[in-house]
Amino acid sequence: MKNLLTSDIGLAARLLKDGGVVGMPTETVYGLGASATNVHAVARIFAIKGRPVNHPLILHIHGIQDLDAWASNIPAYAYRLAQEVWPGPLTLLLHRRPDRSYDHFGGIQPFVTIRVPAHPMASALLAEMGDGIVAPSANRFGRVSPTSPTHVLEELADLLIPGRDIVLDGGPSDVGVESTILDCTEDAPVILRPGAVDADTVGQIGGVSVVQRVSTAHAPGTLASHYAPHAEVIVIREGDAVSDIFTKSSDLEDVAVQSAITPKYGLLALEQVSTPEGVVRLAAPTDSEAYARCLYRALREADALQLTRIIAIPPPEKGIGLAVLDRLQRAAAERR
Ligand code: TXA
Ligand code: MG
Repeated sequence: MKNLLTSDIGLAARLLKDGGVVGMPTETVYGLGASATNVHAVARIFAIKGRPVNHPLILHIHGIQDLDAWASNIPAYAYRLAQEVWPGPLTLLLHRRPDRSYDHFGGIQPFVTIRVPAHPMASALLAEMGDGIVAPSANRFGRVSPTSPTHVLEELADLLIPGRDIVLDGGPSDVGVESTILDCTEDAPVILRPGAVDADTVGQIGGVSVVQRVSTAHAPGTLASHYAPHAEVIVIREGDAVSDIFTKSSDLEDVAVQSAITPKYGLLALEQVSTPEGVVRLAAPTDSEAYARCLYRALREADALQLTRIIAIPPPEKGIGLAVLDRLQRAAAERR
């Protein structure tokens, strides 16, 4: 495993240019990157992740100066947002340029998603590469996104080729949940996936009214069941009775038997929520930002501890709290 991990950005850039794939730290989550102009390298990303080709990849660019090279008909509000928020956790869905090829990014359609990541290693890698990098989150399809290099190796080490591929060690991810995806192909922008950049921020900076809707038409990857650990996730929202923790469980007898042997419940909630006896406290974040930062690590931890169920009490439903709720609900959604 060791020869897959590095902090050598020059090496990672060379491997990308040679058609390798690179586990890349970003401020949101770790991505699995390939050169945007290398059709074969990009195809490997889909193969490694086990991702259907109708789930397109986000293009990462070094800065706003590269935007026009990859998108057309960009509305003024999108420029304002790019100027203010980039580098940062905002992805813009824009019209493709007629003179470039994008179909290898997946999802044959007239649009492309673009963002400028804020992690200094991602930024340096993009500068060194001198080209765009397409990167999905560096997890197997439908699974929890990685927020550390160790998580990337847990997900993908078996599938990466030493000497050809590499994972950059950029430490834990700052934000912890994926970027906000904003559809900028209409007069009013639509939030397709909530993230750290919320609707109020988009509205204020963009000077537009924002539609908050998770559209499955434009973001085919935003499946109901996603970001899922093996453990069953039960989301308790404000107004739900705490006794629901038990009545929402699908198999009461099973719970009784298992908890009699060993604790199998995990709790994920803000610090002020106390931990019932016999329940493993997975995380006790102090605020919504901290909640987002530890969310995926906590879900992984639950699996490592072989817990059967995770009780999650989301943070207040505003700002990044909405993104946390969204990921928890997807983790809780029925598996296909
Ligand atoms: O924070 C992030 O956005 C991370 C880091 C690595 O940049 N990336 C990420 O990528 O979350 P991924 O592939 O795990 O999720 C991207 C989502 C998918 O649901 C995909 O279907 C959607 O964006 N998407 C990408 N390009 C699209 C397009 N052209 N049209 C519609 N949906 C698109
Ligand atoms: Mg993903």
